[in-house]
Amino acid sequence: MNAIVVDHLCKTYRNGVDAVTDVSFTVSAGEIFGLLGPNGAGKSTTVRMLATLSVPSGGSAQVAGRDVESDAAGVRRRIGYVAQASGVDRHGTGRENLTLQAHLERVPKRDIAGRVGSLLEWIGLTEAADRLVNTYSGGMKRRLDIAMGLVHEPEVLYLDEPTTGLDPETRSALWADLKRIRQERKLTVLLTTHYLEEADQLCDRVAIIDRGRVVIEGVPSDLKAKIEGDSVTLNVEGRTSEGASVLRTMEEVLEVIEDGDSIVARVAHGATAVPALITALERAGIGVNAVTLSRPSLDDVYLHYTGHRFTSNGMAEQNHQAPANRRGGDQR
Ligand SMILES: Nc1ncnc2c1ncn2[C@@H]1O[C@H](COP(=O)(O)OP(=O)(O)O)[C@@H](O)[C@H]1O
Ligand SMILES: [Mg+2]
Repeated sequence: MNAIVVDHLCKTYRNGVDAVTDVSFTVSAGEIFGLLGPNGAGKSTTVRMLATLSVPSGGSAQVAGRDVESDAAGVRRRIGYVAQASGVDRHGTGRENLTLQAHLERVPKRDIAGRVGSLLEWIGLTEAADRLVNTYSGGMKRRLDIAMGLVHEPEVLYLDEPTTGLDPETRSALWADLKRIRQERKLTVLLTTHYLEEADQLCDRVAIIDRGRVVIEGVPSDLKAKIEGDSVTLNVEGRTSEGASVLRTMEEVLEVIEDGDSIVARVAHGATAVPALITALERAGIGVNAVTLSRPSLDDVYLHYTGHRFTSNGMAEQNHQAPANRRGGDQR
């Protein structure tokens, strides 16, 4: 059963910005689905349309069997939406915030105290429940945000960049929480992220979004498996385009992409191909500063489908003048 069906959705803002130009994907009930893309790709705009907070300019979407345009109220009852910026009152306690939210979501009055108590327990905030939110750590605040989206027991939960700003440890703890939420609540989770690793580790399936359109959708491991061979990143002294042309003529090279001051070549067997690649470049008078060999990652999937690299801070590269030391193993 599909929990979310998105068909050629688009959005042009009043100021003329085409934030979303062509977004289609489907999410099965019970999945954790990730919308992965750099800042400005159109992720929040897409989620806002699916939350009925923004009216699509074209295309259609159904959530929990209801159309976002013709039955917005029906959609709203069945979703929880946790925005990129937290909506909690920092001068209230965790319990007060959840109680207010339960009233706003019209949870039956007799159920509120019990439901708030069990949500607090369930997200590990029982002890901190009566403390002001501004004394909470980043991870505690984010868990409270998520609980806020669950008070009315929705079928589908949207989380817009749930781990942005969290340190890596808190981030992976939250991944574990989200997996547990999905499992125990039979919930469908749609989240957005600009962390490749998050999409890889947490999501059952992902759609990669670039400049307002979905370029590919699938299971992370399948997407990586479709990219054959190894990626060899050659950092060169200059004349990147010429170097790329040289490599394209080589039989063992499957694909070549220029990426700033580097050339990324996909080959069947990285270790055996590297010497030949370096020799070919040096014969053409192009010096090689550094070579990195890697198995295809989601980064390579992104590069393959968009023609540009996804950097560690989540920005798609717009220019090709990036500094030479930018490519390290830490980006994978
Ligand atoms: N309310 C708005 N009015 C006009 N342009 C907007 C608005 N919200 C976002 N945009 C623009 O739409 C594009 C996509 O933004 P957004 O959906 O927030 O991307 P993401 O969440 O992937 O970072 C960006 O160019 C952004 O500046
Ligand atoms: Mg956003």
